[in-house]
Amino acid sequence: MPKCTIDGREAEFTPGQNLIEVAKKVGIEIPYFCYHPGLSVVAQCRMCAVQVEKMGKLQTACSTPATEGMVVHTRSEIAKQNQRSIMEFLLINHPLDCPICDKSGECDLQDNSYKFGDSNSRYTEERRTYLDLDMGPVIKKNMNRCIHCTRCIRFGEEVANIHEMVAVRRGNNTEITTIDGRPLETDYAGNYSDICPTGSLTLKDFRFKRRAWYLKKTNTVCEGCSRGCNMEIHQDANRVHRCLPRVNMDVNQYWLCDEGRFNFHYLHSAERVVEPAIKGKNDDLSMTDWDSALDAAKAALVGARKLTVLVGSDLTNEEILLLQSFIPQHLSGAEIVHFGTAGVATVADDAAADKLLKRRSKTANLHGIEQLGLKPFRGISDGTDAVLVVRGGRAELPELPSVKLVGVGVFEKSEARNFSVVLPGTAFAEKDGTIVNFQGKEQKLRRAVIPAGKSKALSEILMMWMNRKSS
Ligand code: SF4
Ligand code: SF4
Ligand code: FES
Repeated sequence: MPKCTIDGREAEFTPGQNLIEVAKKVGIEIPYFCYHPGLSVVAQCRMCAVQVEKMGKLQTACSTPATEGMVVHTRSEIAKQNQRSIMEFLLINHPLDCPICDKSGECDLQDNSYKFGDSNSRYTEERRTYLDLDMGPVIKKNMNRCIHCTRCIRFGEEVANIHEMVAVRRGNNTEITTIDGRPLETDYAGNYSDICPTGSLTLKDFRFKRRAWYLKKTNTVCEGCSRGCNMEIHQDANRVHRCLPRVNMDVNQYWLCDEGRFNFHYLHSAERVVEPAIKGKNDDLSMTDWDSALDAAKAALVGARKLTVLVGSDLTNEEILLLQSFIPQHLSGAEIVHFGTAGVATVADDAAADKLLKRRSKTANLHGIEQLGLKPFRGISDGTDAVLVVRGGRAELPELPSVKLVGVGVFEKSEARNFSVVLPGTAFAEKDGTIVNFQGKEQKLRRAVIPAGKSKALSEILMMWMNRKSS
């Protein structure tokens, strides 16, 4: 491999790699704003400029590929002077409203200012100010904090495939906005907030909810479709506040779609059934204790002439394997099939739903459930007098017949009305497990919060069923 030297350290590189990436590999941080590894290089903020021996002027590290024998200084006096000057320049209009800014604690502008900037500013003129701009349901813009890095414009054009962010006017009056002030249209708008290196593009869903430093992070996978984008769940006090993408170049690169990003809200919904429930005299569901609900579930299922078990393709492989061993022993003769997305019965029906990430299967483990040998649901067979539905939070309920219905897992109150018994289970962020994406990759769901209310893991529910004396 070719080698160069950065701040006295020898660094190997692959031809074409820029100096920011090569320096990172040997633990040297070159500050930057406009560069993002998932976007084109424009070299316009000048924050990354470094000294390269035998080259007259400072070179922008984002646009300079390493070459064999190159000698680079990122902390020479002239490089440091540039970093201080650029920081001073970028901050002349910045409101310094970190105490009320959502980006505070994870802001590139804050971090670079602290590490590479000067503590003084010579600026005495009046700062320019703008009112906040509502950019649709996902993003609110605070233009006062913008440093014109154009990452957002490039994300729209190059990744989301939509030209919706633009820079209008020039010089001190430059403003980032949408065309004609229209709301953002992309299904990937949350990424604008992730890539903005300042608190200029804020997620409306997260605005003023929690300071970044209070959030506990769990590496997991999105359950929103069969791609299984890698993401972090951020929670505090057992409440999920946001999901952010994790880089996986084979699966989702740097991005998440909005559907997957905001899917977590059902975890804490007041509409979710989080206590065992049985149908009362007036066909209303009433909350009860676990023993009574288990007895009612057994009474409905054991001894049914013909029982169908519908298993959601939003369950993990471990949960499916448990059911495959439990059902033949305790509900013998039952037909077991899987369900998940209307119009996507098998993996053969699963395909790209857009040009970027989304898949047609709206459950995360369709490919895993088929590998485990379950057949797709094609309709209730004649003579069925009881149905057991087991699902996580995403599988779409098919039309169910008017027979005895028992639900295990995550249900909304409106759905639960059709059931005789509901045993509340865990959702994707409340359990560990394995799912298989459309590429055949096994990925791990990890538990980020404890189950809501009295909900229990499927393994615990089945164990309680087996231990219940009334059986
Ligand atoms: S809004 Fe953010 S991403 Fe867009 S140009 Fe301004 S600082 Fe950069
Ligand atoms: S593309 Fe699918 S897996 Fe990725 S974030 Fe969206 S819903 Fe989740
Ligand atoms: S990161 Fe290199 S010029 Fe902006």
